[in-house]
Amino acid sequence: MLKRPRRIRKSSAIRSLVQETTLSPQDLVAPFFLIKGNACKEEIASLPGVYRYSLDLLCKEAERLHAQGIQAVALFPVIPKEDKDPLGKHSLDEKGLIPHAVRVLKKELPTLTVITDIALDPYTSHGHDGLLGNSGDVLNDETVDVLAKMAILHAEAGADFVAPSDMMDGRVAAIRKMLDLHKKQEVGILSYTAKYASSLYAPFREAVGSTLQHGDKKSYQLNPANVREALLEASLDEEEGADILMVKPALFYLDILAKLRERTTLPLCAYHVSGEYAMVMAADERGFLDADKVFLEALTSIKRAGADFIISYAIDRVLPLMIQGR
Ligand code: PBG
Repeated sequence: MLKRPRRIRKSSAIRSLVQETTLSPQDLVAPFFLIKGNACKEEIASLPGVYRYSLDLLCKEAERLHAQGIQAVALFPVIPKEDKDPLGKHSLDEKGLIPHAVRVLKKELPTLTVITDIALDPYTSHGHDGLLGNSGDVLNDETVDVLAKMAILHAEAGADFVAPSDMMDGRVAAIRKMLDLHKKQEVGILSYTAKYASSLYAPFREAVGSTLQHGDKKSYQLNPANVREALLEASLDEEEGADILMVKPALFYLDILAKLRERTTLPLCAYHVSGEYAMVMAADERGFLDADKVFLEALTSIKRAGADFIISYAIDRVLPLMIQGR
């Protein structure tokens, strides 16, 4: 035989020389669920090993991860029921959980990049990402106005990137305009460009307490059956001034990531979402597979498909494997 492809798989040394994709701590962004209070650490039933933290403990966790090479965190607030209302008014509170957390985090860990979520679902009593019209539909332009104000609040607190996860039309342009108007030109937009209406967000909704009171998010999040919609969203986000585009969830949508990688020169982020984490952890608990190895394979595959970096709950599971090498 003239061609024997196994020659380049013979030893770990040659395998590492020809390895095309590598995964490092700086490719990963840590998501955090933030609760009120002090010294609070709450388990999340559907996300074993992931916790809701009060700010003091969140800072410690972020510091620990940053020391291991993690460069950014993405913050999600858990708003107490009594602070929620149909308009999500708490989202515009300067003294709210997130603006305060950003101020403290940026002061304590100035080299850590802080990404905040721009959407109303943690704040609304109904759990939708926007304001509702009389017929229960999610209003686009009215919601965008609130999101742009929210972005200013986070930018003024010191956020490095704001990440609109709501999927309203025109929100990137509106946020960019408001940021510039407020002299926040240096604050970037990480846009949830292709966010699909996925069943994989259920553990996240449990974690932030944003489970929908009724209905679904299909009138704003993308149809999992579609590719072209994602391409359109990507060109709009690019025109509207997004700095980084995101695909979410990750593993079921690797084709979308790969297609966007060919079409845009912007950096790409993938969100390895709560359900992707929960499925593997549940199988691991039953002894069906080794979660840590599956996560390393999953995250490597997401990078291979085209992601520059990945938001993932599995960071603590894969960091030890990345350090000891394969
Ligand atoms: C909502 C938001 C969701 C996630 C991030 N931001 C859930 C949703 O759209 O209902 C999901 C992330 C995950 O599942 O890990 N703006």
